[in-house]
Amino acid sequence: MLDLIAKHESSSLAAIAEAASVADLDRVESDALGKSGSLIVLKRDLGSIPVEERKTAGRALNEARQHVEVSLAQRREELAAVERVARLQAERLDLTEVPTTVSVGHAHIVTQAWEELEDVFVGMGYHVAEGPDVETDWHNFDALNIPPGHPARDGFDTIYVNHGEPGSTLLRTHTSPVQIRTMLTQEPPIYIVAPGRVFRRDTADATHMPVFHQLEGLVIDKGISLADLAGTIQAFTERYFGSGFNSRLRPNYFPFTEPSAEFDVQSPDGSWLELGGCGMVHPNVLRAGGVDPEEWSGFAFGFGIDRLALLKFGVDDLRDMYSNDIRFLRQF
Ligand code: PHE
Repeated sequence: MLDLIAKHESSSLAAIAEAASVADLDRVESDALGKSGSLIVLKRDLGSIPVEERKTAGRALNEARQHVEVSLAQRREELAAVERVARLQAERLDLTEVPTTVSVGHAHIVTQAWEELEDVFVGMGYHVAEGPDVETDWHNFDALNIPPGHPARDGFDTIYVNHGEPGSTLLRTHTSPVQIRTMLTQEPPIYIVAPGRVFRRDTADATHMPVFHQLEGLVIDKGISLADLAGTIQAFTERYFGSGFNSRLRPNYFPFTEPSAEFDVQSPDGSWLELGGCGMVHPNVLRAGGVDPEEWSGFAFGFGIDRLALLKFGVDDLRDMYSNDIRFLRQF
């Protein structure tokens, strides 16, 4: 009897050690300790052995059951831990970012044109100047030889700002007030370009926007003449558009320049494009900027950056540039 108990115990313990899963272990448990398990059936047989052996055999059987139970519990814990790890591995979500080409975007076409224009003029020895978007009526008009009541004021479709005296503060209608601000803060000689945002009470259409961009140029030096202006416009045209391009000046009127001109650019196919205004700085404007017209003279020019970008990139509606449709913007 004792031999039988020892045999069943050791075979149960071996089976426990070999169990590869909790399910295996359940089977081993039922084989050993279940209703007709090897160690349970033996209990019934105790009754049929001599009384003096029964006690020892009973104790041995109890101990064997305890060993098997302890070993089962231990193995169950081990296997449960292994299975838990396996389950976690299987359910694990891979959150590692899949390496793709990173899209960093690029500058807007107006910004590209703006920066390219700055580069061209910096390359010609100019400095970049700037002024505020919200201007005084004086800097935007009076100082530029456009006194109150001057008909040129109507042409600018000014947006006034509710600040200070009524009509004293506005959103600048052109970049020309930067001429005044530069003259008031810098001694001549002056060679500056001032790119920036300008505002007019305009309804958006294919060629107009209420907010657009201009590039202003101002040169003040000794003995500056109209020939210098024409030469500068031509040099700029060739550098920005290319060597096959030409420029011309056509008489025009601006209150802040005298004489004044419109300047056009001709592409190699012969067609002319009206680009902007220019002229010799009016003596009243020099005086407003604190510059002596007897000692210094100069020229100024100004043109729209947006229209230039429109032409350069072959866009036919200005509004497309500002609707921020990524499919449009990605093309450039
Ligand atoms: N400020 C003018 C405009 O907005 C352009 C210009 C600038 C003309 C400088 C002459 C000289 O139309």
